[in-house]
Amino acid sequence: MLRFVAAFLFSSLLPVTTFAQQAADAVAPEIASSQEIKSSGKPVQSQSWMVAVAHPLAAKAAADVLREGGTAGDAAIAAQFMLGLVEPQSSGLGGGAFFVHFDAASGTLSTLDGRETAPLAATPQLFQDEQGEPLKFFDAVVGGRSVGTPGTPALLAAIHQRHGKLDWARLIAPAKRTARQGFRVSPRMAASVEADAERLARHPATATYFLPDGEPIPVHTLLKNEPYAQTLTMLENGVEPFYRGSIAEEIVTTVQSFAANPGVLSMADLAAYEVKQREPVCAAYRGHDVCGMGPPSSGALTVGQILGQIEQFNFAEMGPLNVKAWLLIGDSSRLAFADRGRYMADSDYVPMPTKGLVDPAYLSNRGALLAGEMALTEVAPGQPEWDHAALDYADDESLELPSTSHFSIVDAAGNAVSMTTTIENGFGSRLMVAGFLLNNELTDFSFRSHRDGTPIANRVEPGKRPRSSMAPTIVMKDGKPVFVVGSPGGSRIIGYVAQTIINHIDWGMDPQLAVAAPHLVNRFGTFDLEESTSAIRLQEALEELGYEVNARPLTSGLHAIAITPDGLEGGADPRREGIVIGE
Ligand code: GLY
Repeated sequence: MLRFVAAFLFSSLLPVTTFAQQAADAVAPEIASSQEIKSSGKPVQSQSWMVAVAHPLAAKAAADVLREGGTAGDAAIAAQFMLGLVEPQSSGLGGGAFFVHFDAASGTLSTLDGRETAPLAATPQLFQDEQGEPLKFFDAVVGGRSVGTPGTPALLAAIHQRHGKLDWARLIAPAKRTARQGFRVSPRMAASVEADAERLARHPATATYFLPDGEPIPVHTLLKNEPYAQTLTMLENGVEPFYRGSIAEEIVTTVQSFAANPGVLSMADLAAYEVKQREPVCAAYRGHDVCGMGPPSSGALTVGQILGQIEQFNFAEMGPLNVKAWLLIGDSSRLAFADRGRYMADSDYVPMPTKGLVDPAYLSNRGALLAGEMALTEVAPGQPEWDHAALDYADDESLELPSTSHFSIVDAAGNAVSMTTTIENGFGSRLMVAGFLLNNELTDFSFRSHRDGTPIANRVEPGKRPRSSMAPTIVMKDGKPVFVVGSPGGSRIIGYVAQTIINHIDWGMDPQLAVAAPHLVNRFGTFDLEESTSAIRLQEALEELGYEVNARPLTSGLHAIAITPDGLEGGADPRREGIVIGE
């Protein structure tokens, strides 16, 4: 019965799945013609290892590493170097990422924070005009002002040091070779370039690459990137040149000399960059521990709150077509976003009630607010337990637009990786250096620093990491991973990931159905329903409950792997170009 309902939900998305198959055919025909492509609406199944990645060439790079006996960490490194080339609008060396890892030998879960940092010369007024008013979003984004110290290269090196087995240069080689031989521009990349052409034209190196002869690069063009190949050659013995050498100099010069909107990033910022190992944040949900990245990400905390607050309601009985289930998810999400806006930021800078926010008793009390028959008319932050009761913050205000990439990997030894990676906005700051784009991650800070004199937790401060919504997740049961998932999508990442976990745990959907099911997302009151899907059928009922409803594209990029007693099952989001490969 549950399978039937899931198939019904999924049916309206089948045309999108077909698009994903066409995209894979176009960009990587040698992969698309093999049995490895998943496009039938069923999950890929395998016995030994599996990768689910946002681009076929990056999935193949990761799969080849696992075939050769590399670890999940090795595969993540190969996937990231390739993604920076073939999906440059979403992630790359100029950005940052979060890495969640399960180590099968020791049974431990760990997280690494490779988030970008604010320059030491940044002030809380970075994104304000002379009157102290917030800048317009894209006035802040395009140029050097928004660029934080990139964390991805240092993160990849840290992954290799802790979890790598194959030679580092071997993991770089596929991306370097492809940069020289060229790759076919995918439909998604071509459409993104066309939609952003005016901004891409504002920096000469960016324009030369994405707008050859002044026009957006056409789909299926064979695109080579010699500067990226040269950068990778420089990194073959380690990432030092990125943080102290000639690449660092090129980054700083580009950021500081963008005359229309210069930034303050310096060589000292790059030299001081550190990857941070952090405690995973876990929330209990129906006998599972839903674990992921803690502050500076709000991802695991907010996903955990949404789930913890609805645990007291019987979702399996309600099913995914019941408007009551969406009333509960929608308002649980609104409560969680209220806490997020008040309390969540880089906890190295602002004291945070991290444990209190996912304490089961707190979530149960907050969940009791959901017992009514109608949408909540008022939603306010709660009062989680913490030891800084005297401190108070004002509510946050920050605009986070969708971009980013996520991959999930399980290797033959049972190690698992969930990694979400970004340069923030599509094409980041639009500044291209040494074959890759620089991030605009600093615009994930609140542009306002105070509200009525009270500081905002996520305000800009020197050396601080902007709050993220990225939610790379590993769901554990009895100390072992059972579901690996994450997504791009700005602050909607949180809703996409929470919904996918509910789809899988409560409604029995396999990973492919769980990632493909139509989205319904509520962060601040308005219910976003995924246009042209069966989600729209709930519109009237949600309006009757008191919600404003907005039909729109909800372009998640979920990649999920379930680890079951019978083997691995993977799903790739049909809304994007990713695939699953497993053996
Ligand atoms: N820039 C996307 C995120 O960190 O949430």
